[in-house]
Amino acid sequence: MKLNIAVLAGDGIGPEISAQGVAVMQAVCQKFGHEATFTPALVGAAAIDAVGDPFPEDTYEICKKADAVLFSSVGDPKFDNNPNAKVRPEQGLLAMRKKLGLFANIRPVQTFDCLIHKSPLKDELVRGADFVCIRELTGGMYFGEKKEGDDYAYDTNAYSREEVERILKVAYAYAQRRRKHLTVVDKANVLASSRLWRKVAQEMAPKYPDVTTDFMYVDNASMRMIQEPTFFDVMVTENTFGDILTDEGSCITGSMGLLPSASTGESTPVFEPIHGSWPQAKGLNIANPLAQILSVAMLFEYFNLVKEGALVRKAVDASLDANVRTPEIQVADGSKYGTKEVGAWIVDWINKA
Ligand code: IPM
Ligand code: MG
Repeated sequence: MKLNIAVLAGDGIGPEISAQGVAVMQAVCQKFGHEATFTPALVGAAAIDAVGDPFPEDTYEICKKADAVLFSSVGDPKFDNNPNAKVRPEQGLLAMRKKLGLFANIRPVQTFDCLIHKSPLKDELVRGADFVCIRELTGGMYFGEKKEGDDYAYDTNAYSREEVERILKVAYAYAQRRRKHLTVVDKANVLASSRLWRKVAQEMAPKYPDVTTDFMYVDNASMRMIQEPTFFDVMVTENTFGDILTDEGSCITGSMGLLPSASTGESTPVFEPIHGSWPQAKGLNIANPLAQILSVAMLFEYFNLVKEGALVRKAVDASLDANVRTPEIQVADGSKYGTKEVGAWIVDWINKA
């Protein structure tokens, strides 16, 4: 298969983990006889610095023409503490989501047995937790009408029936492939937009008799994720709730550096780690490349390249078992591996597999 990949490395640790993701993808493609080409493009603060736009037209064109985007991270502290900044790196990510119509964000929350001790939750609570959060990604407050004045500001949480239906379809498809349990997370006791979500979901549920649908308020869901994360199979929710709940999801597994995600919709799909740009770690060779590498597994799986995806996952498991780990998940035996060393070890394992 020919795969034309746009590589958007972005800011902070982005370029370092991106290089490892690309190297792993190359190794797998070589093994299976796929022809992959990689086209780098600017995004985030790097793009603002270079051309004054966090998602330049050139980058959009490269993404549009690509089969998939391998994205890393955006964000730079020089913008964070400046509420008057005219343009921000994060706008690049939002523009990409909107322009590529990436309405479905798939965020799997999975534990790794060998890292359970790193979870802030007790072993018996978190062991076996394995769910997917399907986050709506191009609607809601992120994109609704806003006003930003000195004394008054608002954001609008608007959703249309069509937007709700199409994301619920994605969620049901996931539930059907998994343990057939869908939890619709909303705030229907307070928000009109949530009541529309609930109404549409209640109308659709009978069309999926093999799936058990339940409803949960978002405050309750955030509690349940801590108290009984194994309750969930597939969870679907709006943009803002999904943003918050997936950060919570990522930390209960023990390391945020391990979770990949996929954003899909109307145009080129994007595969990216769920973590941010960790500017403090930039250039230090300490960032965990596994979330990026697992994004490559999701990329293969999206194209139905099941064996390729499985090989990446096996290689990641092998690196964890061999304690070839970046500092934040290192067990205290003194061995030290950086971003590059972990990536190189995985590439080597794939070559020999
Ligand atoms: C995420 C991030 C983004 C979001 C930021 C960087 C704009 O937190 O992908 O979860 O809020 O969607
Ligand atoms: Mg977030």
